[in-house]
Amino acid sequence: MKPTAPTYRPDVYATRAILDPYPHYRRMRELGPVVWLPRQRAHAVVHHAPCKEVLLADDRFRSERGVALNPVANRLSRGTTLNSDDADHERRRRLLAGRLTPKALRSMREEVELRADAVVEAAVSRGEVDGVVDVARALPTSFVPDLIGWPREGREHLLPWAGATFDCLGPANARTLRAAPRTLRMMRFARSVVRRGDVLPGSMGADLLAKVESGEVRREECPALMIDYLAPSLDTTISAIASTLWLLATHPDQWQALRADPSLVPNAVNEVVRVESPLRAFSRWVAADTEVAGTPLHRGSRVVVLYASANRDERVWDRPDDVDVTRDASQQLGFGQGVHGCAGQGLARLETQAILRSLLERVDRLELTGSPTWGRNNIIHSLDRLPLRLVPLRKAAP
Ligand code: HEM
Repeated sequence: MKPTAPTYRPDVYATRAILDPYPHYRRMRELGPVVWLPRQRAHAVVHHAPCKEVLLADDRFRSERGVALNPVANRLSRGTTLNSDDADHERRRRLLAGRLTPKALRSMREEVELRADAVVEAAVSRGEVDGVVDVARALPTSFVPDLIGWPREGREHLLPWAGATFDCLGPANARTLRAAPRTLRMMRFARSVVRRGDVLPGSMGADLLAKVESGEVRREECPALMIDYLAPSLDTTISAIASTLWLLATHPDQWQALRADPSLVPNAVNEVVRVESPLRAFSRWVAADTEVAGTPLHRGSRVVVLYASANRDERVWDRPDDVDVTRDASQQLGFGQGVHGCAGQGLARLETQAILRSLLERVDRLELTGSPTWGRNNIIHSLDRLPLRLVPLRKAAP
């Protein structure tokens, strides 16, 4: 495949770039809307407008050959909603996404808020916590596996397996190779869950298996569809909640703005997903010779959509590296866009907003008590450790 855009030589999937990605994205955007990544032998779309264009043009930029940057992961992810197009995609999405529509989520709101309160109260009573383990992971892991219907046995593997599944969607680098055995274990486990019919009653998995009985779906389709929802349902939201805590601890003015006007909470979640996009990038397969932002792209090539770069595009936002909960962040692309736009974003927003509201009701301020560390993953951008003090609000004297 020949480059048709300026070359960006550094490897954006190398550990150093994973830990400090934003200077790379800025230099890529300076080169143009589309750049050539020689290591990945793919073009990367790095400005906001062309990223959105690629995501919306699912007739030209296809997902059915996979959204990973290596052929093995693309083959293994066949049968998922993420890796399908047209009628196949619509059908798969219809099978499960109905459980996560705004209407369906309304009945879950109260439970999520109660759980968020319990998580925040426990953290506040401890005072000093790891914001990742004690807050960000605590909420999604307490109920999302139940919602999907994953059996209780083996849940300790879920986070490592889900993280590995994301790693494998990167290029064929050492990180992908190391993660492969854990991804395969998750797939094997999902197959055995479906074979045994071992899903929790009333869950999304139970809905799916009921559709096997009614002939709407074949049993062999179910493991991929369950992984489709389970794998992206944890790390992504954990990333958004942990980044929320970190950004508010390090930007007390933003915390004060939210305290002064809690109606900013939904926008604050958009702003966090904009500034610290939990998913860096996925790719598309180019179905016909075409062009994006004046760059010719050849049939059969791969194009990387860098959500995390689009979300800091200076053509769309002033001071894009600054966090500002009062700016309009609704155009962020962190949940994708178009037919493959995140099917779980309502749930992720509900969880992150619930934690934030609960903190605003109980906490005077958040303080870092040590250095945070960032995780190393080809796709997921997330904190691994966030030492934090939650200073409680003083109760008014009776
Ligand atoms: C902050 C949290 C989250 C972020 C940032 C996020 C991000 C994304 C993105 C960028 C896509 C688009 C993929 C593409 O363009 O090919 C996507 C798709 C998807 N997400 Fe999420 N996600 C989050 C939470 C969740 C949750 C909680 C679930 C499930 C409960 C979920 C399930 C899915 C599914 C099933 C798809 C595939 C949709 C399709 O192909 O039609 N996500 N997500």
